[in-house]
Amino acid sequence: MKLLHLDSSALGADSVTRELSAAIVARWQDAVPGLTVEYLDLDANPLPHLTSRTLARADVICNEKEDQLLAQFLAADVVVVGAPMYNFAIPSTLKAWIDRITVRGKTFRYTGNGPEGLAGGKHVIIATGRGSVHGDNAPSDFQEPYLRFLFGFIGIKDVEFVRAEGVGLSPQHRAEALAKAHAAIPGPLPKAA
Ligand SMILES: Cc1cc2nc3c(=O)[nH]c(=O)nc-3n(C[C@H](O)[C@H](O)[C@H](O)COP(=O)(O)O)c2cc1C
Repeated sequence: MKLLHLDSSALGADSVTRELSAAIVARWQDAVPGLTVEYLDLDANPLPHLTSRTLARADVICNEKEDQLLAQFLAADVVVVGAPMYNFAIPSTLKAWIDRITVRGKTFRYTGNGPEGLAGGKHVIIATGRGSVHGDNAPSDFQEPYLRFLFGFIGIKDVEFVRAEGVGLSPQHRAEALAKAHAAIPGPLPKAA
């Protein structure tokens, strides 16, 4: 079984999503013997923005990297994503990765009955962090709904969130939010064990 682990926080050792995504991966490693883990730090090694040049596949090095990112994603059974809320959405570094794995003909296609996801069968767990408290279904939340829709669009319905929010309100809020999030980390699904 293969697990792909991504982080995108720009806050380094202070990051709550890095702490939570690492804890989620550790849980899977404990539960699944022989689990292979590949790691992408999208802050330390940011991908370039998607541009007309990359879309035209004019850059050989970029093409190879994009093909590799897509193959890595398609090969993964489990994807663990650290996704902070930045300006009500996700970091642009994470968006740049999403732009590389949301590819017509590879992870989705258009049919006479509408779009069809082609990347089903994966399990996605997303660690989210928020400075303020937004709760569920908030109009200010373009982070979790976006990620749920995006992964659903490419065929992945099995998307779980582990959320720490209100972490910017006070050190106490942060500690409590992190403790709650750690306690809410889901165990690996029986089908995946
Ligand atoms: C550039 C930037 C933008 C942010 N925008 C928001 C925001 O719109 N709403 C919010 O609640 N918190 C916001 N925050 C706070 C982060 O969501 C919070 O610090 C969270 O812990 C980030 O996850 P991390 O600790 O893994 O980096 C922002 C933080 C940064 C650095």
